[in-house]
Amino acid sequence: MGRFWAVFFVASAVIAVGLCWVAPSYGLWFPGTLKGGFGAGVAHSSIGKKIDDLFYLVLVIVAVTYIGTHAVLGYVLWRGATIKPEEKVLFSHGSHSLEVIWTIVPAGILLYIALYQMDVWAAYRFKEFSPKKAEAVAEVTARQFEWRIRYPARGKTLMPTPQPDDVYTVNELHVPTGRPVSISLKTEDVQHAFFVPELRIKQDAVPGLTIPVWFDVDEPRQYEMVCAELCGWGHYKMKARLIAVSDEDFGAWKDKAALEQFDDGFKKPAE
Ligand code: CUA
Repeated sequence: MGRFWAVFFVASAVIAVGLCWVAPSYGLWFPGTLKGGFGAGVAHSSIGKKIDDLFYLVLVIVAVTYIGTHAVLGYVLWRGATIKPEEKVLFSHGSHSLEVIWTIVPAGILLYIALYQMDVWAAYRFKEFSPKKAEAVAEVTARQFEWRIRYPARGKTLMPTPQPDDVYTVNELHVPTGRPVSISLKTEDVQHAFFVPELRIKQDAVPGLTIPVWFDVDEPRQYEMVCAELCGWGHYKMKARLIAVSDEDFGAWKDKAALEQFDDGFKKPAE
């Protein structure tokens, strides 16, 4: 039986590494465009790429530790199972220096990760470190169970309170690509979470707070935008679209949306 467990633990490590290795080619990895030989989904925002880099750093550290400990575990089990009756068994009551080493090394690694990720965290979450030129494009209000979005009229800046010429959409967030933009995230009722997986942007919407969230989108197309906080029976329905277009198309879309919104039925929207 001892040999079985030795093989079991070594094989589980080999299978886990193998599955992680082939997962990207089956689309079972990060969402995003598949690029490069490894085939992992690449994030569509600059901050998303940095977050992925952090993930891969942690993944490498964890993988090395996991493979190393399973190799040692397999070896010890194998040795125990195949020991001959005449061999002398080594009894150990622990090693002080080993204890010190495997306390200090993980602590050092954790400290390294904590310091290494500070810039990305600050840029992601702190207003002072996010891009200064990020334009506030919309106010996104979550409610049970949809996203209501308010944009300032073309050429105007987003005000904290609704303006007569604001443009509205539901479950469709339009943004320009190629430059940092920000949204003001709110909720009307319970806690929701704004999540665009392909951008790696996720932020809770908290009652009573208006939270600025910045991001940039590198490719003009549609992205899935979901609620990532169980917010009630209709949580699954809070699936929306983030529509990223070029600057010119964004302006044109806003003009068209405003014309349609304010059309009183007497004057046809201009062609
Ligand atoms: Cu809103 Cu889940």
